[in-house]
Amino acid sequence: MVFLDAKKIKREYRLRRSLWGEKPNRFVSLIPGMISNGNVLDIGAGQGRNALYLARKGFKVTGVDISKAAIAELSARAKEENLRIKGVVADIVGYRIGGKYEAVICVAALHFVPKGKVAGILAHIKKHTAENGVNLLTAFTKKDIGYKEHPTLSFFDKEELAAFYRDWKIILCKDYTKKETHGAAHEHRLCVLIAQKRS
Ligand SMILES: C[S@@+](CC[C@H](N)C(=O)[O-])C[C@H]1O[C@@H](n2cnc3c(N)ncnc32)[C@H](O)[C@@H]1O
Repeated sequence: MVFLDAKKIKREYRLRRSLWGEKPNRFVSLIPGMISNGNVLDIGAGQGRNALYLARKGFKVTGVDISKAAIAELSARAKEENLRIKGVVADIVGYRIGGKYEAVICVAALHFVPKGKVAGILAHIKKHTAENGVNLLTAFTKKDIGYKEHPTLSFFDKEELAAFYRDWKIILCKDYTKKETHGAAHEHRLCVLIAQKRS
């Protein structure tokens, strides 16, 4: 099954413990080399593979997701390991961030947001990032297998993401491919952007 439907993902979270695996996203593992400590906001955190990884590295993490089951799993795992993670059930659209974060990550979740809402969400995320803090975004590109079939989702070009960050230092901006093992084997085409807020 190719999961491009937030409702299907929600159902699947009730059945499977680590839907996206246990290992963190490959770009999230760069974060501890970029900032040494502080608060991280994980938007569209799912069951928390990235939030758990960062909390184990000593960060204080807030994980936000629209799925109650995913946040319940994330919070249970955090409790088991005594990690500093707060789980929040919320829709990214309209979610109001409190305070400032040294890093905000949004891994494979931005494409679920209606295109017209993306600019406002990213402006809000940028505003709530601390000076010298980083944002890490990954999202499906227009070369993805789902592009034609899913007109309600947002597909990006890497240049489009970079344009939102033209006033920040771009650390990484590139396309990549991810092989998926859930359901029938398939691969997704994504882009990643890591940018740092200038002081
Ligand atoms: C492909 S999963 C990625 C999960 C996690 N970031 C990871 O890398 O393991 C996308 C996540 O975005 C969440 N999501 C989709 N639409 C959302 C929305 N409007 N608000 C908050 N979360 C949303 C889904 O519930 C799902 O957990």
